[in-house]
Amino acid sequence: MEACIAVVPIRWTSLIPGKDMAKNFDVVVIGGGPGGYIAAIRAAQLGFSVACIDEWKNEKGGPAPGGTCTNVGCIPSKALLQSSEHFEHAGHAFAEHGIDIAGLSLNLRQMLSRKETVVKQNNDGILYLFKKNKVSFFHGRGAFAKAEAGVYTISVTGTAAETVTAKHVVIATGSNARELPGAPFDERLILSNTGALAIEAVPKRLGVIGAGVIGLEMGSVWRRLGAAVTVLEALPTFLGAVDEQIAKEAHKLFVKQGLAINLGVKIGAITQGADDVSVAYTDDKGIEQKAVFDKLIISIGRVPNTIGLGGDIVGLKLDGRGFIAVDDDCKTNLPNVWAVGDVVRGPMLAHKAEEEGVAVAERIAGQHGHVNFNTVPWVIYTAPEIAWVGKNEQQLKADGVAYKAGVFPFMANGRARALGDTAGMVKFLADAKTDEILGVHIVGPMASELISEAVVAMEFRASSEDIARICHAHPSLSEATKEAALAVEKRALNF
Ligand code: FAD
Ligand code: NAI
Repeated sequence: MEACIAVVPIRWTSLIPGKDMAKNFDVVVIGGGPGGYIAAIRAAQLGFSVACIDEWKNEKGGPAPGGTCTNVGCIPSKALLQSSEHFEHAGHAFAEHGIDIAGLSLNLRQMLSRKETVVKQNNDGILYLFKKNKVSFFHGRGAFAKAEAGVYTISVTGTAAETVTAKHVVIATGSNARELPGAPFDERLILSNTGALAIEAVPKRLGVIGAGVIGLEMGSVWRRLGAAVTVLEALPTFLGAVDEQIAKEAHKLFVKQGLAINLGVKIGAITQGADDVSVAYTDDKGIEQKAVFDKLIISIGRVPNTIGLGGDIVGLKLDGRGFIAVDDDCKTNLPNVWAVGDVVRGPMLAHKAEEEGVAVAERIAGQHGHVNFNTVPWVIYTAPEIAWVGKNEQQLKADGVAYKAGVFPFMANGRARALGDTAGMVKFLADAKTDEILGVHIVGPMASELISEAVVAMEFRASSEDIARICHAHPSLSEATKEAALAVEKRALNF
Protein backbone atom coordinates (compact mmCIF):
# COMPACT_ATOMS: atom_id res chain seq x y z
CA MET A 1 0.00 0.00 0.00
CA GLU A 2 1.24 3.47 -0.79
CA ALA A 3 0.14 4.55 2.68
CA CYS A 4 3.27 3.01 4.13
CA ILE A 5 5.37 5.96 2.95
CA ALA A 6 3.27 8.51 4.85
CA VAL A 7 4.28 7.77 8.40
CA VAL A 8 3.16 10.47 10.78
CA PRO A 9 2.03 9.39 14.23
CA ILE A 10 -1.22 11.10 15.20
CA ARG A 11 -3.85 10.76 17.90
CA TRP A 12 -6.67 8.78 16.37
CA THR A 13 -9.26 10.17 18.78
CA SER A 14 -8.79 13.56 17.17
CA LEU A 15 -10.31 12.14 14.01
CA ILE A 16 -13.68 11.46 15.59
CA PRO A 17 -16.06 14.37 15.24
CA GLY A 18 -17.10 15.88 18.58
CA LYS A 19 -20.67 15.89 19.88
CA ASP A 20 -21.36 19.30 18.37
CA MET A 21 -20.31 18.22 14.88
CA ALA A 22 -22.80 16.84 12.37
CA LYS A 23 -22.78 13.10 11.82
CA ASN A 24 -24.40 13.37 8.41
CA PHE A 25 -22.17 12.54 5.49
CA ASP A 26 -22.50 12.32 1.73
CA VAL A 27 -20.67 8.99 1.73
CA VAL A 28 -20.11 6.47 4.52
CA VAL A 29 -17.63 3.66 3.90
CA ILE A 30 -17.89 0.55 6.10
CA GLY A 31 -14.49 -1.16 6.30
CA GLY A 32 -11.06 0.46 6.21
CA GLY A 33 -9.08 -2.11 4.22
CA PRO A 34 -7.61 -1.29 0.80
CA GLY A 35 -11.07 -1.26 -0.79
CA GLY A 36 -12.63 0.96 1.88
CA TYR A 37 -9.91 3.41 2.81
CA ILE A 38 -9.05 4.10 -0.82
CA ALA A 39 -12.76 4.60 -1.68
CA ALA A 40 -13.03 7.05 1.23
CA ILE A 41 -9.97 9.05 0.14
CA ARG A 42 -11.08 9.20 -3.50
CA ALA A 43 -14.61 10.28 -2.50
CA ALA A 44 -13.12 13.03 -0.31
CA GLN A 45 -10.87 14.15 -3.19
CA LEU A 46 -14.02 14.49 -5.29
CA GLY A 47 -15.49 16.92 -2.77
CA PHE A 48 -17.83 14.71 -0.73
CA SER A 49 -18.05 14.73 3.04
CA VAL A 50 -16.92 11.23 3.94
CA ALA A 51 -16.77 8.93 6.96
CA CYS A 52 -14.94 5.62 7.14
CA ILE A 53 -15.82 3.09 9.84
CA ASP A 54 -13.37 0.32 10.68
CA GLU A 55 -13.33 -2.03 13.63
CA TRP A 56 -9.82 -3.53 13.48
CA LYS A 57 -8.02 -3.16 16.83
CA ASN A 58 -4.30 -3.13 17.52
CA GLU A 59 -2.89 -4.91 20.57
CA LYS A 60 -3.71 -1.88 22.74
CA GLY A 61 -7.32 -1.77 21.55
CA GLY A 62 -6.70 1.29 19.37
CA PRO A 63 -7.58 1.53 15.69
CA ALA A 64 -5.56 -0.32 13.08
CA PRO A 65 -7.03 0.61 9.69
CA GLY A 66 -5.82 -1.15 6.57
CA GLY A 67 -7.82 -4.34 7.01
CA THR A 68 -6.57 -7.84 6.32
CA CYS A 69 -4.02 -6.48 3.88
CA THR A 70 -2.22 -4.25 6.37
CA ASN A 71 -2.70 -6.23 9.58
CA VAL A 72 -2.59 -9.92 8.69
CA GLY A 73 -2.11 -10.11 4.93
CA CYS A 74 -0.06 -8.44 2.21
CA ILE A 75 2.13 -6.23 4.38
CA PRO A 76 3.18 -8.51 7.29
CA SER A 77 3.60 -11.49 4.95
CA LYS A 78 5.91 -9.49 2.69
CA ALA A 79 7.86 -8.25 5.72
CA LEU A 80 8.45 -11.83 6.86
CA LEU A 81 9.19 -13.02 3.33
CA GLN A 82 11.89 -10.34 3.08
CA SER A 83 13.40 -11.12 6.50
CA SER A 84 13.38 -14.86 5.94
CA GLU A 85 14.93 -14.44 2.50
CA HIS A 86 17.76 -12.39 4.03
CA PHE A 87 18.27 -15.20 6.54
CA GLU A 88 18.34 -17.82 3.82
CA HIS A 89 20.75 -15.77 1.70
CA ALA A 90 23.04 -15.19 4.67
CA GLY A 91 23.12 -18.94 5.32
CA HIS A 92 23.30 -20.24 1.76
CA ALA A 93 24.04 -17.59 -0.87
CA PHE A 94 26.51 -15.11 0.63
CA ALA A 95 29.46 -17.52 0.62
CA GLU A 96 29.37 -17.67 -3.19
CA HIS A 97 29.77 -13.87 -3.21
CA GLY A 98 32.83 -14.19 -1.00
CA ILE A 99 31.03 -13.14 2.15
CA ASP A 100 31.60 -15.52 5.04
CA ILE A 101 29.40 -15.28 8.08
CA ALA A 102 30.45 -17.01 11.24
CA GLY A 103 27.92 -17.78 13.94
CA LEU A 104 24.79 -16.91 11.96
CA SER A 105 21.74 -17.09 14.19
CA LEU A 106 18.07 -16.26 14.03
CA ASN A 107 16.47 -13.68 16.31
CA LEU A 108 12.85 -14.54 15.58
CA ARG A 109 11.53 -12.17 18.22
CA GLN A 110 13.24 -9.24 16.45
CA MET A 111 12.01 -10.46 13.05
CA LEU A 112 8.41 -10.54 14.31
CA SER A 113 8.83 -7.20 16.05
CA ARG A 114 10.10 -5.59 12.83
CA LYS A 115 7.06 -6.98 11.03
CA GLU A 116 4.80 -5.38 13.68
CA THR A 117 6.59 -2.05 13.22
CA VAL A 118 6.02 -2.21 9.48
CA VAL A 119 2.32 -2.93 10.10
CA LYS A 120 2.02 -0.01 12.52
CA GLN A 121 3.70 2.36 10.05
CA ASN A 122 1.01 1.43 7.56
CA ASN A 123 -1.83 1.80 10.11
CA ASP A 124 -0.53 5.24 11.06
CA GLY A 125 -0.04 6.16 7.41
CA ILE A 126 -3.72 5.52 6.71
CA LEU A 127 -4.85 7.56 9.73
CA TYR A 128 -2.62 10.37 8.47
CA LEU A 129 -4.16 10.13 5.00
CA PHE A 130 -7.67 10.31 6.49
CA LYS A 131 -6.72 13.46 8.31
CA LYS A 132 -5.04 14.96 5.26
CA ASN A 133 -8.12 14.27 3.12
CA LYS A 134 -10.62 15.27 5.83
CA VAL A 135 -12.15 11.81 6.05
CA SER A 136 -13.86 11.35 9.45
CA PHE A 137 -12.74 8.07 10.96
CA PHE A 138 -14.92 6.03 13.32
CA HIS A 139 -13.37 3.13 15.20
CA GLY A 140 -15.95 0.41 15.70
CA ARG A 141 -18.36 -1.87 13.94
CA GLY A 142 -20.70 -0.27 11.43
CA ALA A 143 -24.15 -1.80 10.96
CA PHE A 144 -27.17 -0.71 8.95
CA ALA A 145 -29.88 0.49 11.38
CA LYS A 146 -32.48 1.77 8.91
CA ALA A 147 -33.11 3.16 5.43
CA GLU A 148 -35.61 5.99 5.19
CA ALA A 149 -36.37 8.55 2.47
CA GLY A 150 -33.16 7.75 0.62
CA VAL A 151 -30.99 8.14 3.72
CA TYR A 152 -29.16 5.26 5.41
CA THR A 153 -28.63 5.28 9.16
CA ILE A 154 -25.61 3.32 10.36
CA SER A 155 -24.82 2.58 13.96
CA VAL A 156 -21.20 2.45 15.07
CA THR A 157 -20.45 0.25 18.05
CA GLY A 158 -16.98 0.86 19.37
CA THR A 159 -15.38 2.66 22.27
CA ALA A 160 -18.33 5.04 22.05
CA ALA A 161 -21.72 4.39 20.43
CA GLU A 162 -22.32 6.70 17.49
CA THR A 163 -24.80 7.03 14.67
CA VAL A 164 -24.03 8.34 11.21
CA THR A 165 -26.24 8.93 8.21
CA ALA A 166 -25.48 9.10 4.51
CA LYS A 167 -27.08 9.01 1.09
CA HIS A 168 -24.33 6.78 -0.30
CA VAL A 169 -22.85 3.75 1.46
CA VAL A 170 -19.81 1.77 0.29
CA ILE A 171 -19.44 -1.65 1.90
CA ALA A 172 -15.84 -2.93 2.02
CA THR A 173 -15.98 -5.45 4.84
CA GLY A 174 -13.47 -7.89 3.32
CA SER A 175 -13.05 -11.58 3.99
CA ASN A 176 -12.04 -14.13 6.63
CA ALA A 177 -10.02 -17.35 6.39
CA ARG A 178 -12.10 -20.41 5.51
CA GLU A 179 -12.12 -23.11 8.20
CA LEU A 180 -11.97 -26.83 7.55
CA PRO A 181 -14.99 -28.50 9.10
CA GLY A 182 -13.96 -30.13 12.39
CA ALA A 183 -10.71 -28.14 12.66
CA PRO A 184 -11.51 -24.63 13.90
CA PHE A 185 -8.65 -22.14 14.12
CA ASP A 186 -7.27 -21.83 17.65
CA GLU A 187 -4.22 -19.86 16.42
CA ARG A 188 -2.05 -22.00 18.71
CA LEU A 189 -1.85 -25.33 16.87
CA ILE A 190 -4.30 -24.81 14.01
CA LEU A 191 -3.46 -21.52 12.35
CA SER A 192 -5.15 -19.20 9.89
CA ASN A 193 -3.08 -16.50 8.19
CA THR A 194 -3.24 -14.57 11.48
CA GLY A 195 -1.45 -17.27 13.49
CA ALA A 196 0.83 -18.19 10.59
CA LEU A 197 2.32 -14.69 10.72
CA ALA A 198 3.01 -14.81 14.45
CA ILE A 199 4.52 -18.21 15.32
CA GLU A 200 6.82 -17.51 18.26
CA ALA A 201 9.33 -20.35 17.77
CA VAL A 202 10.19 -22.00 14.46
CA PRO A 203 8.20 -25.27 14.41
CA LYS A 204 10.22 -28.39 13.62
CA ARG A 205 7.34 -29.87 11.63
CA LEU A 206 4.93 -27.50 9.91
CA GLY A 207 1.89 -28.78 8.05
CA VAL A 208 0.12 -26.64 5.46
CA ILE A 209 -3.28 -27.60 4.05
CA GLY A 210 -3.80 -25.89 0.68
CA ALA A 211 -1.00 -25.23 -1.84
CA GLY A 212 -2.45 -21.86 -2.86
CA VAL A 213 -1.01 -18.40 -2.47
CA ILE A 214 -0.94 -18.28 1.33
CA GLY A 215 0.26 -21.88 1.68
CA LEU A 216 3.22 -21.26 -0.61
CA GLU A 217 4.14 -17.83 0.79
CA MET A 218 3.87 -18.82 4.46
CA GLY A 219 5.33 -22.28 3.80
CA SER A 220 8.34 -20.54 2.21
CA VAL A 221 8.81 -18.19 5.18
CA TRP A 222 8.92 -20.99 7.77
CA ARG A 223 10.96 -23.36 5.59
CA ARG A 224 13.63 -20.67 5.17
CA LEU A 225 13.70 -20.25 8.94
CA GLY A 226 14.25 -23.97 9.48
CA ALA A 227 10.90 -25.78 9.57
CA ALA A 228 10.32 -29.05 7.70
CA VAL A 229 7.25 -28.04 5.69
CA THR A 230 4.70 -30.50 4.31
CA VAL A 231 2.01 -29.11 2.02
CA LEU A 232 -1.20 -31.10 1.48
CA GLU A 233 -3.24 -30.05 -1.55
CA ALA A 234 -6.58 -31.50 -2.66
CA LEU A 235 -6.21 -30.83 -6.37
CA PRO A 236 -4.08 -33.14 -8.52
CA THR A 237 -2.49 -30.18 -10.34
CA PHE A 238 -0.11 -27.66 -8.79
CA LEU A 239 -1.28 -24.01 -9.03
CA GLY A 240 -4.07 -24.78 -11.49
CA ALA A 241 -4.78 -21.09 -12.19
CA VAL A 242 -1.18 -20.48 -13.29
CA ASP A 243 0.14 -21.15 -16.81
CA GLU A 244 1.05 -24.85 -16.86
CA GLN A 245 4.66 -24.34 -18.01
CA ILE A 246 5.26 -21.71 -15.32
CA ALA A 247 3.56 -23.80 -12.60
CA LYS A 248 5.65 -26.84 -13.56
CA GLU A 249 8.88 -24.85 -13.32
CA ALA A 250 7.81 -23.34 -9.97
CA HIS A 251 6.89 -26.78 -8.60
CA LYS A 252 10.31 -28.13 -9.56
CA LEU A 253 12.06 -25.20 -7.85
CA PHE A 254 9.98 -25.33 -4.65
CA VAL A 255 10.52 -29.09 -4.28
CA LYS A 256 14.27 -28.53 -4.79
CA GLN A 257 14.17 -25.90 -2.03
CA GLY A 258 12.72 -28.51 0.32
CA LEU A 259 8.95 -27.96 0.35
CA ALA A 260 7.29 -31.40 0.46
CA ILE A 261 4.27 -30.85 -1.79
CA ASN A 262 1.64 -33.59 -1.82
CA LEU A 263 -1.01 -33.17 -4.50
CA GLY A 264 -4.35 -34.96 -4.89
CA VAL A 265 -4.81 -35.67 -1.18
CA LYS A 266 -8.10 -36.06 0.69
CA ILE A 267 -7.95 -34.69 4.19
CA GLY A 268 -9.52 -36.86 6.89
CA ALA A 269 -9.59 -36.38 10.66
CA ILE A 270 -7.53 -33.60 12.21
CA THR A 271 -6.77 -34.34 15.86
CA GLN A 272 -5.17 -31.97 18.34
CA GLY A 273 -2.75 -33.31 20.94
CA ALA A 274 -1.37 -31.29 23.84
CA ASP A 275 1.42 -29.80 21.70
CA ASP A 276 0.92 -31.23 18.26
CA VAL A 277 -1.73 -31.88 15.68
CA SER A 278 -2.16 -34.97 13.54
CA VAL A 279 -3.70 -35.05 10.11
CA ALA A 280 -5.08 -38.22 8.54
CA TYR A 281 -5.28 -38.10 4.77
CA THR A 282 -5.54 -40.29 1.71
CA ASP A 283 -2.70 -39.69 -0.74
CA ASP A 284 -2.95 -39.52 -4.54
CA LYS A 285 -2.54 -43.31 -4.78
CA GLY A 286 -5.47 -43.87 -2.42
CA ILE A 287 -3.23 -44.93 0.47
CA GLU A 288 -4.22 -43.84 4.00
CA GLN A 289 -1.52 -41.64 5.59
CA LYS A 290 -1.06 -39.83 8.88
CA ALA A 291 1.25 -36.91 9.58
CA VAL A 292 1.99 -35.22 12.89
CA PHE A 293 2.90 -31.52 12.99
CA ASP A 294 3.93 -28.99 15.65
CA LYS A 295 1.79 -26.40 13.87
CA LEU A 296 -0.77 -26.67 11.10
CA ILE A 297 -1.63 -23.78 8.76
CA ILE A 298 -4.96 -24.11 7.00
CA SER A 299 -5.03 -21.97 3.86
CA ILE A 300 -7.88 -23.26 1.72
CA GLY A 301 -9.31 -19.94 0.57
CA ARG A 302 -11.29 -17.13 2.17
CA VAL A 303 -14.96 -16.36 2.72
CA PRO A 304 -16.69 -12.98 2.36
CA ASN A 305 -17.34 -11.14 5.62
CA THR A 306 -20.83 -9.76 6.21
CA ILE A 307 -20.99 -10.62 9.91
CA GLY A 308 -22.77 -7.99 12.03
CA LEU A 309 -23.32 -5.65 9.08
CA GLY A 310 -27.10 -5.51 9.52
CA GLY A 311 -27.63 -6.22 5.84
CA ASP A 312 -30.86 -8.09 6.61
CA ILE A 313 -32.33 -4.96 8.23
CA VAL A 314 -32.20 -3.04 4.96
CA GLY A 315 -32.67 -6.04 2.64
CA LEU A 316 -29.13 -6.26 1.24
CA LYS A 317 -28.90 -9.18 -1.20
CA LEU A 318 -26.14 -11.82 -1.02
CA ASP A 319 -25.33 -14.30 -3.77
CA GLY A 320 -25.40 -18.09 -3.34
CA ARG A 321 -21.82 -18.13 -2.00
CA GLY A 322 -22.35 -15.43 0.64
CA PHE A 323 -20.76 -12.57 -1.33
CA ILE A 324 -22.68 -9.29 -1.55
CA ALA A 325 -24.42 -9.44 -4.93
CA VAL A 326 -23.25 -6.59 -7.19
CA ASP A 327 -23.42 -5.72 -10.87
CA ASP A 328 -20.41 -4.86 -13.04
CA ASP A 329 -20.35 -1.37 -11.48
CA CYS A 330 -20.30 -2.68 -7.87
CA LYS A 331 -23.94 -1.57 -7.31
CA THR A 332 -25.87 -3.71 -4.83
CA ASN A 333 -29.63 -4.28 -4.97
CA LEU A 334 -30.14 -1.21 -2.71
CA PRO A 335 -30.17 2.29 -4.20
CA ASN A 336 -26.88 4.14 -3.59
CA VAL A 337 -25.36 1.19 -1.72
CA TRP A 338 -22.16 -0.13 -3.29
CA ALA A 339 -19.80 -2.95 -2.36
CA VAL A 340 -16.13 -3.50 -3.27
CA GLY A 341 -13.16 -5.77 -2.61
CA ASP A 342 -13.10 -9.25 -1.11
CA VAL A 343 -16.76 -9.09 -0.07
CA VAL A 344 -17.83 -9.16 -3.75
CA ARG A 345 -17.08 -11.44 -6.72
CA GLY A 346 -13.71 -11.41 -8.45
CA PRO A 347 -10.16 -12.03 -7.31
CA MET A 348 -9.40 -11.44 -3.64
CA LEU A 349 -6.54 -9.01 -4.19
CA ALA A 350 -5.76 -5.70 -2.52
CA HIS A 351 -5.19 -3.85 -5.80
CA LYS A 352 -8.48 -5.16 -7.21
CA ALA A 353 -10.23 -3.86 -4.06
CA GLU A 354 -8.51 -0.47 -4.46
CA GLU A 355 -9.44 -0.14 -8.12
CA GLU A 356 -13.07 -0.91 -7.31
CA GLY A 357 -12.99 1.62 -4.44
CA VAL A 358 -11.74 4.37 -6.75
CA ALA A 359 -14.22 3.45 -9.49
CA VAL A 360 -17.18 3.50 -7.07
CA ALA A 361 -16.23 6.92 -5.65
CA GLU A 362 -16.02 8.24 -9.21
CA ARG A 363 -19.38 6.69 -10.14
CA ILE A 364 -20.97 8.34 -7.10
CA ALA A 365 -19.61 11.61 -8.49
CA GLY A 366 -21.25 10.87 -11.85
CA GLN A 367 -17.96 9.95 -13.51
CA HIS A 368 -17.17 6.77 -15.43
CA GLY A 369 -15.08 4.68 -13.04
CA HIS A 370 -13.45 1.74 -14.77
CA VAL A 371 -11.88 -1.58 -13.70
CA ASN A 372 -10.43 -3.89 -16.34
CA PHE A 373 -10.51 -7.39 -14.84
CA ASN A 374 -8.49 -8.75 -17.77
CA THR A 375 -5.47 -6.70 -16.76
CA VAL A 376 -5.49 -7.33 -13.00
CA PRO A 377 -2.02 -8.74 -12.28
CA TRP A 378 -1.41 -11.65 -9.90
CA VAL A 379 1.78 -12.14 -7.92
CA ILE A 380 2.88 -14.95 -5.63
CA TYR A 381 5.77 -13.65 -3.53
CA THR A 382 7.76 -16.86 -3.26
CA ALA A 383 11.39 -17.05 -4.37
CA PRO A 384 11.39 -17.04 -7.29
CA GLU A 385 8.28 -14.90 -7.58
CA ILE A 386 5.44 -15.91 -9.87
CA ALA A 387 3.48 -13.18 -11.68
CA TRP A 388 1.03 -13.11 -14.51
CA VAL A 389 -1.57 -11.05 -16.32
CA GLY A 390 -4.16 -12.05 -18.91
CA LYS A 391 -4.80 -15.51 -20.30
CA ASN A 392 -2.61 -18.57 -19.84
CA GLU A 393 -1.89 -21.20 -22.46
CA GLN A 394 -4.44 -23.73 -21.20
CA GLN A 395 -7.19 -21.05 -21.22
CA LEU A 396 -6.37 -20.02 -24.79
CA LYS A 397 -6.47 -23.66 -25.89
CA ALA A 398 -9.81 -24.19 -24.14
CA ASP A 399 -11.20 -21.03 -25.78
CA GLY A 400 -9.94 -22.15 -29.21
CA VAL A 401 -7.85 -18.99 -29.65
CA ALA A 402 -4.93 -19.26 -32.11
CA TYR A 403 -1.82 -17.90 -30.39
CA LYS A 404 1.97 -17.70 -30.60
CA ALA A 405 4.24 -18.18 -27.59
CA GLY A 406 7.66 -16.71 -26.83
CA VAL A 407 9.78 -17.82 -23.86
CA PHE A 408 13.05 -16.44 -22.54
CA PRO A 409 14.91 -17.99 -19.58
CA PHE A 410 16.57 -15.83 -16.90
CA MET A 411 19.60 -18.11 -17.26
CA ALA A 412 20.40 -16.16 -20.45
CA ASN A 413 19.96 -12.71 -18.85
CA GLY A 414 23.14 -10.89 -17.79
CA ARG A 415 21.61 -9.09 -14.81
CA ALA A 416 20.09 -12.33 -13.47
CA ARG A 417 23.52 -13.97 -13.67
CA ALA A 418 25.11 -11.03 -11.84
CA LEU A 419 22.42 -11.28 -9.19
CA GLY A 420 22.94 -15.03 -8.91
CA ASP A 421 19.21 -15.44 -9.53
CA THR A 422 18.82 -17.29 -12.81
CA ALA A 423 15.89 -19.63 -12.18
CA GLY A 424 12.73 -19.18 -14.22
CA MET A 425 11.54 -17.51 -17.39
CA VAL A 426 9.33 -14.89 -19.02
CA LYS A 427 6.62 -16.12 -21.35
CA PHE A 428 4.57 -14.11 -23.83
CA LEU A 429 1.34 -15.27 -25.44
CA ALA A 430 0.18 -13.23 -28.43
CA ASP A 431 -2.69 -13.54 -30.89
CA ALA A 432 -1.57 -15.56 -33.91
CA LYS A 433 -3.10 -13.10 -36.38
CA THR A 434 -2.96 -9.65 -34.80
CA ASP A 435 0.03 -10.18 -32.47
CA GLU A 436 -1.93 -8.48 -29.63
CA ILE A 437 -0.55 -9.59 -26.25
CA LEU A 438 -3.03 -11.97 -24.63
CA GLY A 439 -1.05 -12.94 -21.53
CA VAL A 440 2.37 -12.64 -19.91
CA HIS A 441 3.62 -15.15 -17.34
CA ILE A 442 6.78 -14.92 -15.29
CA VAL A 443 8.52 -17.10 -12.76
CA GLY A 444 11.78 -15.53 -11.70
CA PRO A 445 13.49 -12.67 -9.85
CA MET A 446 11.42 -9.52 -9.27
CA ALA A 447 8.51 -10.91 -11.29
CA SER A 448 6.25 -8.66 -9.18
CA GLU A 449 7.91 -5.58 -10.66
CA LEU A 450 8.46 -6.92 -14.18
CA ILE A 451 4.78 -7.73 -14.66
CA SER A 452 3.86 -4.00 -14.64
CA GLU A 453 5.30 -3.53 -18.11
CA ALA A 454 3.03 -6.30 -19.38
CA VAL A 455 0.01 -4.77 -17.62
CA VAL A 456 0.65 -1.38 -19.23
CA ALA A 457 1.18 -3.03 -22.61
CA MET A 458 -2.07 -4.97 -22.34
CA GLU A 459 -4.02 -1.88 -21.17
CA PHE A 460 -2.86 -0.15 -24.37
CA ARG A 461 -3.60 -3.31 -26.39
CA ALA A 462 0.02 -3.49 -27.49
CA SER A 463 1.45 -6.23 -29.71
CA SER A 464 4.41 -8.39 -28.76
CA GLU A 465 6.32 -6.52 -31.50
CA ASP A 466 5.70 -3.23 -29.64
CA ILE A 467 7.58 -4.58 -26.60
CA ALA A 468 10.23 -6.16 -28.81
CA ARG A 469 10.95 -2.76 -30.44
CA ILE A 470 11.21 -0.80 -27.16
CA CYS A 471 14.68 -0.03 -25.77
CA HIS A 472 15.19 -1.71 -22.37
CA ALA A 473 18.07 -0.78 -20.05
CA HIS A 474 21.11 -3.05 -19.94
CA PRO A 475 21.81 -4.96 -17.86
CA SER A 476 18.34 -5.36 -16.43
CA LEU A 477 15.89 -8.15 -15.75
CA SER A 478 13.44 -6.31 -18.01
CA GLU A 479 15.58 -7.34 -20.97
CA ALA A 480 14.18 -10.83 -20.41
CA THR A 481 10.73 -9.37 -21.05
CA LYS A 482 11.89 -7.81 -24.32
CA GLU A 483 13.61 -11.04 -25.34
CA ALA A 484 10.47 -13.10 -24.60
CA ALA A 485 8.53 -10.69 -26.82
CA LEU A 486 11.18 -11.15 -29.54
CA ALA A 487 10.89 -14.92 -29.06
CA VAL A 488 7.24 -14.76 -30.15
CA GLU A 489 8.59 -14.34 -33.70
CA LYS A 490 11.47 -16.72 -32.94
CA ARG A 491 14.03 -13.93 -33.02
CA ALA A 492 15.37 -13.74 -29.47
CA LEU A 493 18.88 -12.30 -29.65
CA ASN A 494 20.50 -13.75 -26.55
CA PHE A 495 19.10 -17.29 -26.51
P1 FAD B 1 -10.09 -6.20 4.07
O1 FAD B 1 -8.69 -5.86 3.83
O2 FAD B 1 -10.40 -7.53 4.65
O3 FAD B 1 -10.67 -5.06 5.01
C1 FAD B 1 -11.94 -5.11 5.55
C2 FAD B 1 -11.97 -4.24 6.78
O4 FAD B 1 -13.32 -4.04 7.18
C3 FAD B 1 -11.27 -4.87 8.00
O5 FAD B 1 -10.46 -3.90 8.63
C4 FAD B 1 -12.42 -5.27 8.92
O6 FAD B 1 -12.10 -5.22 10.27
C5 FAD B 1 -13.44 -4.18 8.58
N1 FAD B 1 -14.81 -4.53 8.86
C6 FAD B 1 -15.49 -5.64 8.50
N2 FAD B 1 -16.79 -5.55 8.87
C7 FAD B 1 -16.92 -4.34 9.47
C8 FAD B 1 -18.01 -3.65 10.04
N3 FAD B 1 -19.25 -4.16 10.04
N4 FAD B 1 -17.79 -2.44 10.58
C9 FAD B 1 -16.55 -1.88 10.58
N5 FAD B 1 -15.48 -2.48 10.03
C10 FAD B 1 -15.67 -3.69 9.48
N6 FAD B 1 -3.49 -9.31 -1.84
C11 FAD B 1 -2.63 -8.74 -2.70
O7 FAD B 1 -3.06 -8.06 -3.65
N7 FAD B 1 -1.28 -8.89 -2.56
C12 FAD B 1 -0.75 -9.62 -1.55
O8 FAD B 1 0.47 -9.73 -1.44
C13 FAD B 1 -1.63 -10.23 -0.62
N8 FAD B 1 -1.15 -10.96 0.40
C14 FAD B 1 -2.03 -11.52 1.28
C15 FAD B 1 -1.50 -12.30 2.29
C16 FAD B 1 -2.35 -12.91 3.20
C17 FAD B 1 -1.77 -13.74 4.31
C18 FAD B 1 -3.75 -12.70 3.09
C19 FAD B 1 -4.69 -13.31 4.09
C20 FAD B 1 -4.28 -11.92 2.08
C21 FAD B 1 -3.42 -11.35 1.15
N9 FAD B 1 -3.89 -10.59 0.09
C22 FAD B 1 -3.03 -10.04 -0.81
C23 FAD B 1 -5.33 -10.36 -0.10
C24 FAD B 1 -5.72 -8.97 0.43
O9 FAD B 1 -5.34 -8.89 1.79
C25 FAD B 1 -7.21 -8.75 0.28
O10 FAD B 1 -7.59 -8.98 -1.05
C26 FAD B 1 -7.56 -7.33 0.66
O11 FAD B 1 -7.20 -7.05 1.98
C27 FAD B 1 -9.06 -7.07 0.49
O12 FAD B 1 -9.35 -5.76 0.84
P2 FAD B 1 -10.78 -5.33 1.37
O13 FAD B 1 -10.71 -3.86 1.61
O14 FAD B 1 -11.84 -5.85 0.48
O15 FAD B 1 -10.97 -6.10 2.76
P1 NAI C 1 -6.10 -20.08 -2.53
O1 NAI C 1 -7.42 -20.08 -3.19
O2 NAI C 1 -4.99 -19.34 -3.15
O3 NAI C 1 -5.59 -21.58 -2.34
C1 NAI C 1 -6.32 -22.51 -1.63
C2 NAI C 1 -5.82 -23.88 -1.98
O4 NAI C 1 -6.38 -24.80 -1.07
C3 NAI C 1 -6.24 -24.32 -3.39
O5 NAI C 1 -5.13 -24.83 -4.08
C4 NAI C 1 -7.29 -25.39 -3.12
O6 NAI C 1 -7.35 -26.39 -4.11
C5 NAI C 1 -6.82 -25.95 -1.78
N1 NAI C 1 -7.87 -26.58 -1.00
C6 NAI C 1 -9.15 -26.18 -0.83
N2 NAI C 1 -9.79 -27.03 -0.02
C7 NAI C 1 -8.90 -27.99 0.36
C8 NAI C 1 -8.97 -29.12 1.20
N3 NAI C 1 -10.08 -29.45 1.82
N4 NAI C 1 -7.86 -29.87 1.35
C9 NAI C 1 -6.70 -29.54 0.72
N5 NAI C 1 -6.59 -28.47 -0.10
C10 NAI C 1 -7.67 -27.69 -0.27
O7 NAI C 1 -6.39 -19.57 -1.04
P2 NAI C 1 -5.43 -19.08 0.10
O8 NAI C 1 -4.04 -19.53 -0.13
O9 NAI C 1 -6.12 -19.41 1.36
O10 NAI C 1 -5.45 -17.52 -0.09
C11 NAI C 1 -6.70 -16.82 -0.12
C12 NAI C 1 -6.64 -15.68 -1.05
O11 NAI C 1 -5.90 -14.62 -0.48
C13 NAI C 1 -5.92 -15.96 -2.36
O12 NAI C 1 -6.74 -16.61 -3.28
C14 NAI C 1 -5.61 -14.59 -2.81
O13 NAI C 1 -6.73 -14.03 -3.42
C15 NAI C 1 -5.31 -13.87 -1.52
N6 NAI C 1 -3.86 -13.82 -1.32
C16 NAI C 1 -3.11 -13.14 -2.24
C17 NAI C 1 -1.75 -13.09 -2.11
C18 NAI C 1 -0.97 -12.39 -3.15
O14 NAI C 1 -1.55 -11.68 -3.95
N7 NAI C 1 0.35 -12.55 -3.19
C19 NAI C 1 -1.05 -13.70 -0.99
C20 NAI C 1 -1.94 -14.42 -0.10
C21 NAI C 1 -3.29 -14.44 -0.27
